[in-house]
Amino acid sequence: MSSIYIHIPFCHSKCYYCGFHSVASCKDQSKMVDAICKELILRSDFLNGKTIETIYFGGGTPSILKIEEIEKILNQIKSIHTIVDNPEISLEANPEDLNKDFLIGIKNIGINRLSIGIQSLNDDILKFINRRHTAKEAIEAVCLAKEIGFDNISIDLIYGIPNQDNSIWEENLRKIESLPISHLSSYCLSIDDNTVFSKKEERGEFSQMPEDESEMQYRMLVEWTKKNGFEHYEISNFCRDGLISRHNTAYWQDKPYLGIGPAAHSYNIETRQWNCSNNPKYIKAIEGGHIANEIEERDLDVQFNEYLMTSLRTKWGINLKEMEERFPKAWLEHLSKKIIKFKLHLNTSDNKVSIKEESLFISDEIIAEFFI
Ligand SMILES: C[S@@+](CC[C@H](N)C(=O)[O-])C[C@H]1O[C@@H](n2cnc3c(N)ncnc32)[C@H](O)[C@@H]1O
Ligand code: SF4
Repeated sequence: MSSIYIHIPFCHSKCYYCGFHSVASCKDQSKMVDAICKELILRSDFLNGKTIETIYFGGGTPSILKIEEIEKILNQIKSIHTIVDNPEISLEANPEDLNKDFLIGIKNIGINRLSIGIQSLNDDILKFINRRHTAKEAIEAVCLAKEIGFDNISIDLIYGIPNQDNSIWEENLRKIESLPISHLSSYCLSIDDNTVFSKKEERGEFSQMPEDESEMQYRMLVEWTKKNGFEHYEISNFCRDGLISRHNTAYWQDKPYLGIGPAAHSYNIETRQWNCSNNPKYIKAIEGGHIANEIEERDLDVQFNEYLMTSLRTKWGINLKEMEERFPKAWLEHLSKKIIKFKLHLNTSDNKVSIKEESLFISDEIIAEFFI
C-alpha cells in the first residue's frame, strides 16, 4: 500500500508564520493543474504498481482550486493507479473557502476527509498572524462541512504564539469542545525561514514565547484532549473513534509515497526526492517532459535514524523485531543500551518501544540520543 501527496502552491495571502512553499497569487493555476496531471504520468512507475490507500491535497491552499480542477487530478490518479476500496482522500482547506457549493462539490467527487486550518479562535491573534478569516467564520465552516455530510473533519490549531497567553489558549480549547471534529493537529509555533515572523525576529521586533510557557500550553492541550475523548496517537495529533490520519500515519510508519507538484517530496525507502520549489520552473520542466527534482540516496544509517525519528513520534513506537531484519546487530546493541538508559521515559513490551505520553514534549532530545 502507498500514498500520493499533491502540493497546491497557491494561497490568497501569506500567513506571517508559514514557510511552506506557496505564492500569494493564482497566476498559472490552470497551467499548474495540467503540469500536476502530466507529472503523474511522468512518474507513474515510482510506486512500482503498489495500490494507493491515501491521497492528500496539501499546500498552500488546495481549497483555492475549482472543483473541476480537483476532479481532473483525481481522475488522472485513478486512470494511472489502482486505488483501494475505501481510500482516505483528504483536502486541506482554509475556512474562508468553505461555502456550501464547494463543500457539496468536493464531497461528490470523493473527498472524504477535510483538514481545516483554524489556527486560533481569537480574532486578535488571527489578525496578528495574518489570517483572512474570523473565529466565527472558522466555526461556521466546520459546522457547515459536518451538515453537508463530512464525518471526518480535522482542524489545525497553533499553540506557543506570543500574545496568545494561557487564558486565550484555554478559551480556544473550550470553544472547540462543541465542534463536530474527529481529529485535531496542534503544532507549536515554529519560526521558519523566509517568513514575516523570522524577518521581524531578525530586526528585534518579535520574540518567541519562552519554552516553559509553550510546554505548559502543550500540557493543557494533552489534558484537554483526554477529557474530550481524543486518542493521542502522535506527538501533535489526536483523534476520536480511531480516525487517525491514515495518510500522515503512513509517513510516520516509513511507507513509500509519491509527492507531486512544486516542492513536493517523494520517498521509496532507498531514496528521498524533492521537486523544485519555483512554480514557473516546475511548470516549464514538466511541459518539456522532465521533472526538476533532487534525489538523495539514503544510506542505511540515515534510514536507521529516520526510522527512529518518525516511529518514536507515534504511540506505536519502534518494532525491534523489524529493526533486527533491516539493520546491523551493533546498531541494535547501541539502541538497547540507550533504551535501558531512558527506561523511565519509555513503554516497552513485545519488542515494541514507545515514548511515554508525559515525556513526549522532550521526545526530540530522547530520539537524538538513540541516533547512530
Ligand atoms: C501547510 S499548512 C496548510 C493549511 C491551509 N493552507 C491553512 O492555512 O489552513 C498546514 C498547517 O501547518 C501548520 N503550520 C504551518 N506553519 C507553521 C508554523 N510555522 N508553526 C506551527 N504550525 C505551522 C498550520 O497549523 C497549518 O494549518
Ligand atoms: S498557513 Fe496555509 S494559508 Fe497560510 S500561508 Fe501557509 S499554506 Fe498559505
